[in-house]
Amino acid sequence: MEQGIRSIGILGAGRVGTAVAREALKARFEVRIATAKPVEDIALIVEIITPGALAVTAAEAAQADLVVLALPLHKYRTLDSAALAGRVVIDAMNYWEPTDGTMPELAGRGSSEVIQDFLAASHVVKTLNHIGYHELEADGCPAGSPGRRALAVAGDDPDARGRVLAFIDALGYDAVDAGSLAAGRALEPGTEAFAGAHDAAGLAGALGRHAASGAGSAAAA
Ligand SMILES: NC(=O)c1ccc[n+]([C@@H]2O[C@H](COP(=O)([O-])OP(=O)(O)OC[C@H]3O[C@@H](n4cnc5c(N)ncnc54)[C@H](OP(=O)(O)O)[C@@H]3O)[C@@H](O)[C@H]2O)c1
Repeated sequence: MEQGIRSIGILGAGRVGTAVAREALKARFEVRIATAKPVEDIALIVEIITPGALAVTAAEAAQADLVVLALPLHKYRTLDSAALAGRVVIDAMNYWEPTDGTMPELAGRGSSEVIQDFLAASHVVKTLNHIGYHELEADGCPAGSPGRRALAVAGDDPDARGRVLAFIDALGYDAVDAGSLAAGRALEPGTEAFAGAHDAAGLAGALGRHAASGAGSAAAA
């Protein structure tokens, strides 16, 4: 397994969480899924929608080699920061006003930076937010395929970023290193990178143009 990654814990069993679960299972990872509900409430749905994955508690999901946050952004304060301490945590969440309402803490900041503040002892890495859940299952293909779709990876810890880059490649996507978590603002809704599908060169170009525009603090680490 890539960089010693064997298990993926997913917090959220909605559209994104279950799509990531199915793709991770295809790539032969061990997948554990949790929501805020008791395990018995999601066990049957997990068995039917993501056969091969294990329904677990959020604390158990947090013990996986990589943990994916796939819950509505405004619910981030319901996460157990102690359980996630020391873990590599992929933030696949986006701010979506009709769902998330007003979140004053996002003013002038990237949403993943806010998550990193909350999960201060975790290594937060932003990716998987800029692909639709339905595309995630359709667009992946083996390394070296012509025009392979790319996804960018942003995070402040180089080792954590490296592990997530390997995971993204295993899921079937070229992985583009976007640098720091602040640089990950270039992946948020409304950006060129967020809109549409890009190959690695196209995505790198979009990230570069975002940085050059001075939007947010998009300078790569
Ligand atoms: N839809 C897309 O194509 C897409 C693509 C990329 C990123 N995103 C982003 O990904 C996030 C999830 O979107 P979605 O469409 O998958 O949402 P969704 O279908 O509403 O699913 C959200 C899931 O999160 C669970 N949840 C809530 N609080 C939780 C907690 N503390 N711990 C664990 N699970 C918890 C919910 O279960 P319970 O409430 O039952 O616990 C539910 O299973 C959003 O931020 C969205 O913007 C969406």
